[in-house]
Amino acid sequence: MKVIGRSPAKVILFGEHFVVNGNTAISMAIDLPTQVIVEDLSNKSIHISSDNLGVTATFSRDGKTTQVLGPNAESILRPVFETASFTMRKFCSAGRGMKIRIASSVPVGMGLGSSAATAVATVAATAALQGKHLAKDDIFDAAYTLEKLVHGRPSGIDQATITHGGLIMYSNGKVDDKLNVPEPPRFIIGNTGKGRSTGELVAKVTKLRQESGATYASIASEAQEIAEKASRALRIGDQRAVGGLMNQNQRLLEMVGVSSPELEALILAARGAGALGAKLTGGGGGGCMIALVDQQASTRVARHIEEAGGQVIEGKFSADGVQSFIQEE
Ligand code: PMV
Repeated sequence: MKVIGRSPAKVILFGEHFVVNGNTAISMAIDLPTQVIVEDLSNKSIHISSDNLGVTATFSRDGKTTQVLGPNAESILRPVFETASFTMRKFCSAGRGMKIRIASSVPVGMGLGSSAATAVATVAATAALQGKHLAKDDIFDAAYTLEKLVHGRPSGIDQATITHGGLIMYSNGKVDDKLNVPEPPRFIIGNTGKGRSTGELVAKVTKLRQESGATYASIASEAQEIAEKASRALRIGDQRAVGGLMNQNQRLLEMVGVSSPELEALILAARGAGALGAKLTGGGGGGCMIALVDQQASTRVARHIEEAGGQVIEGKFSADGVQSFIQEE
């Protein structure tokens, strides 16, 4: 028997970075799937491979690697091993060996939640293989607990969006609301292709908060107002207002120093081509931007993003969060 855990990716529409310190953020699951396929292994080891990254590693139950293949295989795959081991210890009777294969369409390290998508799908699939169908809240808790071990102070918004799916408002470690919208907003995602570390960018904003508390507080309070107005505009389907608020949010992200020339080139290209609004999404510093478009402007905005050096990614709304399926052979 095989179990497939399937998770979406995510884009943050409003409030990234400020959400780390208690603000509200709004994010949306997108239909860029990550599949984690798990099956029992007769020996007690955990064998993990990633199709896209071309890496393989085998771990003993106590975490030693017994076989490693491909560049940086161990550092890439160890978090997956930790996730599977944690899930087995917490929810199942540990002790069995397992084979884990990851097939993901999410670019790594570009702000679309690739590591959260793998972690969330790994938790769901590992538990389901052992006969436990976890509640969404348990999947989120496990993936968020693990993320906290790896990265100082994550907000958990990636794990929450990917676990629950849809369009969510999030603050202080929990989903405040699922937004019901007349029609899901339509985004073009532009990838600068420039890798960066979310942790370093979060540290940069933390430094600003510590050194210029009053400046940070006034920017964060404006960001909070923007997120609240955006939730109302999204609920009534006022796309023009949503776009204007995205532009305002981008200006605040520039003020706290997490934008980049590459991102701004794509953002300006999108706005110039008729996007209703455009901003970076996720950690910033590189990675991806999003442009809100209506049907008419969509092709033109995508073309202009490409001409400005970006790679265009389809970012269709996903109402579904993580799911797991049993595949009998
Ligand atoms: O993982 P990324 O790059 O999509 O960014 C996550 C969003 C941040 O607000 C920058 C960090 C966090 O933990 O919320």
